[in-house]
Order: sequence, then structure tokens, then C-alpha cells
Amino acid sequence: MENESFYNRFICAIIQPLRLHWYFRDNLNYINARRAEVGVNKIHDFRERANTLFLTDSFFGFEVPDAWPPIHQEIGPILPDTFPSLSSDLELFLSTHPRTMYIAFGSVMYTTPENYAIILQTALELINRNILDGVIWSTVKMNESELPLTINLSTGDIILTSNLLNNLHPHLYITKYAPQFAILSHENTKVFFGHGGVSSSHESIYTATPMLVLPIAYDQPGNAERLELAGMALKLSKLDLKVDDIISKIVRLLSEESFKTNAKRLQVLAKYNSKRKYRGADLIEIMLNLAKYDSIKNENGELEVNIETLLRSWITPNSRMGFFRGNYLDVFGAAVIIALVLISSLGYGFYKAIMFAFRKWSLKSRNSETFSKAKDE
Ligand SMILES: *[C@@H]1O[C@H](CO)[C@@H](O)[C@H](O)[C@H]1NC(C)=O
Ligand SMILES: *[C@@H]1O[C@H](CO)[C@@H](O)[C@H](O)[C@H]1NC(C)=O
Repeated sequence: MENESFYNRFICAIIQPLRLHWYFRDNLNYINARRAEVGVNKIHDFRERANTLFLTDSFFGFEVPDAWPPIHQEIGPILPDTFPSLSSDLELFLSTHPRTMYIAFGSVMYTTPENYAIILQTALELINRNILDGVIWSTVKMNESELPLTINLSTGDIILTSNLLNNLHPHLYITKYAPQFAILSHENTKVFFGHGGVSSSHESIYTATPMLVLPIAYDQPGNAERLELAGMALKLSKLDLKVDDIISKIVRLLSEESFKTNAKRLQVLAKYNSKRKYRGADLIEIMLNLAKYDSIKNENGELEVNIETLLRSWITPNSRMGFFRGNYLDVFGAAVIIALVLISSLGYGFYKAIMFAFRKWSLKSRNSETFSKAKDE
């Protein structure tokens, strides 16, 4: 919201939370029922983090910097220690295609058959114009049978979709699933065309691969904005996907050095911060161990722990002080009132003093006028 208008900031801070609250009221009730089962307090808002140890799989650099309370800890990006490696087919494809683009929209996301056809056409045009020499597409949720039977290129060529899906095109490698991290780690993967899901984004940052982002839902539009703002990505709109637009963005991503430089800059942050998953695990173990000392036996002889007692080392006192005292609004309010009283009484005193001096002066000058008139007479 840094550069947004008052109107947008109002919508963001007041209207949007109310809307979200309304949409997700059933989910909130469900979560509160589960919380009650294990003796954890209700929450009234998903963003309420006062009495929950809240571990975020993210890092500043990707995330907008913010002062979070101690109970809210960043421990991301969380990446596994080992990843599936390249199949021999993919290994061969990548090593023989030095300018490869990888396309994947995550494991649950999909877009319209029209958009898929546009992306397929774009991939072919990029290869024909020699901007890229290889495209690997992990299709996952794409329904191949909904694609048009042919792809028509701007040159007038008509390509049978089934030939593409059967990998008869030497520069296109289409597969249902692919070892994403291994592909992104390969030096010949020059750009990642993805949906901007948080794990994909982390993997792209970790491997310093510039991205073209087509956000589909949830956090993806926000991630796309952040990646673009960080200078390692460009974004597209799923409602207005155009071949020429995608091509010109890919050309920029490949030719402008800044995208790679910024990706490498974020890579530094991601590499160091990825060690914090162990810190996350430690925090959970700390809780489990502290529970031995902070719990009491109930009537059935089971150990029970009060979450606020357990987390007291992380809960800031302001969460217990209420909104006004916790935010020092009472103190600041009093300070503003004192300042107003002082300023107005000073102002009033000054006004009185001026009026007094003016009256004195006008009286004196009138007196002296009368005096000099009297003398003249
Ligand atoms: C807002 O504008 C400033 C100054 O142009 C810029 O440095 C900053 O990155 C912008 N922030 C966002 C979120 O766009
Ligand atoms: C794919 O699309 C076809 C045609 O619309 C449909 O019959 C089929 O059930 C779909 N398959 C899946 C897995 O959704």
C-alpha cells in the first residue's frame, strides 16, 4: 500500500478484512471447533496471531518487510534437502537445448483451454523465432483432450496438437510431471513460466531463475507483484493473455541483465534463510519440552497446558493490555490533549497580551494627541 491512494488504503485496511471475514466465516468456525478440542483459545480473525506460535514460510526480500511480534517467526523459504533428479530423457533434452524455458502451473492450478492453446502457440513461436531453443512443459492439471486439434502459427503453419503432445517436436518436451527443482537448477533453464505459487517462487529464487508469472488464484497475484517489484519477474493477466505480449516479456527477461542480477540477489537471501527451517523445528521442540514444565495434571491425571502460559516468553505484554493501553493510545491521547491545551492557552495568553499592549498604546497616543491639541490651544 506504500504508493496507493487513500481510497485503496481504506479498502485494504477496512473493507477487505470485513469481506474476508464474511467469506471465510465457516472456515473460522471449523478451525475454532478444532482449537476448542485441543484446549486452544478461539481466534476471531485469521490474521490474529497474538496467542499462537506462528511460523511463516517466507523471508524478507520476497515478503514486504514488517515488524512482526516475537510470536510470529519467519522460517522460510522451506525447501527439502533432497529433490527428485532429472530423468535421462530430460537430462539429454536440457543439455542439448541451451536456451530452455520451463512451464508449470503447480500441482493444483489450471487455466482455460484457450489460455493453454495460447501458451502452446507462444512456445512454438518462440522456438521458430529462435528466441528459445527448448521448452519443457509439465502439464499436471491440464486436460489435453480439451485443447484444440491444431495450433495455428502466425506464419500460417498449422501444427497438429497430438504431435506436440506425443513429443514429436524436437524442441518441445511435454510431460505430465517433471522434477521441477532439478530443471530449475540446470544452467540451460533460462526462464520459468509459472503461476507464482509460493513454493515455485521459492524454488525459482533459490535457483536464480527469472520468472514470467501467470497468477491464477489465492496468494499468486500478490506473489507475482512481489516478484516483479523485486525485479526478477514480469507478470501476465489470465483474463487477457496474448501471444505477442508473452513473447515480448520473454524477450525482455532473456535480454535484460537486471532480471538475472535481481534473481541472484534474492538467491543470496533465500540460500541463507533456507537454513531457518531447522530453527522452525527447534521452536516446535521447545514448545514440546516446555510443556513438561508448564502443564498441570487434570482430574484424569493427563497433562494439560495453558497455551498462554506455554507461550509467555513470546507473547508481547501489549496483547494483554487491551487495544488502547497496548497501543499507548491513552497516553498519546492525553499527550495530544495536553499539547492542545498548552497551545491554546499560550495562544490565548499571547492574544490577551497583544490586545493589552495595543489598548495601552492607543490610549497613550490618544492622550498625547489630546495633550498636544491642548498645548496648541
Ligand atoms: C513506491 O515508490 C517509491 C518511490 O518511487 C519506490 O522506491 C517504492 O519501491 C515503491 N513501492 C512500491 C510497493 O511500489
Ligand atoms: C477432460 O475433458 C474431457 C472433454 O471435455 C472430459 O470428457 C474429461 O472427463 C476430462 N478429463 C478430466 C480428467 O477432467
